[in-house]
Amino acid sequence: MISIRQLQKSFQAQQGQVNALKGIDLEVSEGEFCVLLGPSGCGKTTTLRCVAGLERPDGGEIEISGRLVNSPRSRTFVPAEKRQIGMVFQSYAIWPHMNVFQNVAFPLTQGQKRVSKSSVAERVRAALKRVQLDGLEDRPATDLSGGQQQRVAMARAIVTDSRVLLMDEPLSNLDARLREQMRVELRKITKSIGVTTLYVTHDQAEALSLGDKVCVMNHGEILQIARPNEVYARPVNLFVAQFVGEMNFVKAEVIDSGEVGCSLGKLPISIPNGVSKGANITLAIRPEHVKVLPMTSDSANHVRGKITSKNYLGDSALLEVEVNGTRHGVIHG
Ligand SMILES: Nc1ncnc2c1ncn2[C@@H]1O[C@H](COP(=O)(O)OP(=O)(O)OP(=O)(O)O)[C@@H](O)[C@H]1O
Ligand SMILES: [Mg+2]
Repeated sequence: MISIRQLQKSFQAQQGQVNALKGIDLEVSEGEFCVLLGPSGCGKTTTLRCVAGLERPDGGEIEISGRLVNSPRSRTFVPAEKRQIGMVFQSYAIWPHMNVFQNVAFPLTQGQKRVSKSSVAERVRAALKRVQLDGLEDRPATDLSGGQQQRVAMARAIVTDSRVLLMDEPLSNLDARLREQMRVELRKITKSIGVTTLYVTHDQAEALSLGDKVCVMNHGEILQIARPNEVYARPVNLFVAQFVGEMNFVKAEVIDSGEVGCSLGKLPISIPNGVSKGANITLAIRPEHVKVLPMTSDSANHVRGKITSKNYLGDSALLEVEVNGTRHGVIHG
């Protein structure tokens, strides 16, 4: 549905050239919810803007629904308004001087598009129903809560029946509780329409809960593309491991195929193929994969430590455990 091949984009900034995208490849299939996740400045917005046609890439190709919309090599550039894409951004960007109906109708009534009045009304109502704002047509846009304003922006993005929806941190202006509610809603709405979605966030929890697929980016490159559970359980490198979820890192040396030595002592661990004896490695241990047992128990693979702090999380607690002078996070309960 969306096919990005070797996409490159650089900017001239005061301090010199910034290579915002260094040749990224990404396929998003029909109806899929794909999340771009990465730290500030890694190139998420630039990717989205290139797909939207708001930015002209320096190299590579973009295809939407099998149609080439971008290829500097063949001088193809389909302008934004001809790409049939819905967009939602961080700032709600809804018009304060219009009511809800007028805001949502905007893409249907501006420009050269000729949509009949009754058809506009019908489509606006259908879009508002999708985002559960039916009945609020006449409300001034400024008299809405943050969550409602973001829904108006959603309705406006889907009113044109776009097959592709681009969203750039749409929930980051909302408070924590509303953000979590809207996450669930957002996924429901996009799935019920069956729209193909490319969604940008730097919040790993949001990425894991929303995405059918998560692309972890850093410095203009995609490091890993996988399902959320796979990114979490099998990060491809240390960057992904530390960026997605909590992780303890412990430097270690391979003693033999089934054992490593580290500050936690000698630990029996299955070593991946290709890692030889004597190699220096880093163990990455999720806090919830460590079990806390009384001193008296004598299970295999155990390490003695001292609990130095305890944070209740409700159904569990995050402990800080000191072992041989180093502190590690452990989820208990
Ligand atoms: N118009 C521009 N002029 C110069 N540099 C730019 C421009 N737009 C983006 N950049 C640079 O390109 C890089 C990628 O920017 P981008 O906005 O894509 O990052 P991002 O991943 O969306 O970050 P954030 O999470 O902060 O929104 C950054 O180093 C940024 O400073
Ligand atoms: Mg951005």
